[in-house]
Amino acid sequence: MKVQDFQKMKDEGRKISMITCYDYSSARVVADSNIDCILVGDSLAMTMHGYPTTLSATTAMMALHTAAVARGAPGKFIVADLPFLSYRKGLKDAMDSVHELMSAGAHAVKLEGVRGHAEIVRHIVDSGVPVMGHLGLTPQSVHVLGGMKVQARTSAAVKVLASEARELETAGCFAIVLECVPVQVARQVTDLLKIPTIGIGAGPHVDGQVLVYQDVLGLNPGFKPKFLRVYANTFEVIQTALNAYDVDVKSGAFPSEIESYNDLEARRVTKRNGHPAQNGRGSRITLAS
Ligand code: KIV
Repeated sequence: MKVQDFQKMKDEGRKISMITCYDYSSARVVADSNIDCILVGDSLAMTMHGYPTTLSATTAMMALHTAAVARGAPGKFIVADLPFLSYRKGLKDAMDSVHELMSAGAHAVKLEGVRGHAEIVRHIVDSGVPVMGHLGLTPQSVHVLGGMKVQARTSAAVKVLASEARELETAGCFAIVLECVPVQVARQVTDLLKIPTIGIGAGPHVDGQVLVYQDVLGLNPGFKPKFLRVYANTFEVIQTALNAYDVDVKSGAFPSEIESYNDLEARRVTKRNGHPAQNGRGSRITLAS
């Protein structure tokens, strides 16, 4: 997928699928899936680092995770979040953050809101970097919003949202995330814009959907917002596997004879490689038989 494909997909009425991803091994799974594109969201401050909000994400943190995702999913279009305040301290700081994320392997950056930084959005786009907007519930403003609440519930708020969406489009954004807004509002904004909207908690009348990897895979038990569909209970699957491993270790059932080297094989491995075999991804492999 290239940045132009976002517009093409909207124009052809094809939905865009996006998933967050933060690390190399998950990126390898996404790379082998049909998902169109990846968001290295600042939600990683919560999902990967255990912070209570996204405010703790830093540019260095975002770049580290973006680089890992880029190594795991080199064929996917990657959008990386500009973290809290990184685009509110003037143009130079904003461009330094953009530079870091793009050098780490992002193909585009995403930022929240537009009030007070439309010029910065324009400058980033004019510098050759695609920008995705983000309106509605903007988690970096959680303290102003008074919590993670559905937005644009009054006609005045809908007017503001629509005008901010137009402003982002005019500033050159290639797409806009709409988070936690009523179905009718998302539809209205989507119809208003030429560029695609990607919804999360925004109902079906948008041009694409984005969800958090851990939420989709049931790795965040207890987190059950109305908009979320959990596609697999991976938490339990992994826990069951870990407990089975624990039982086998403690009972002596693991490792078995076929999972152990005998003298002859040990000599063969050493003779062939001169060192223990590696699988090229950093983990040692056990040679079969
Ligand atoms: O950081 C994130 O994961 C996001 C999505 C929820 C859109 O911004």
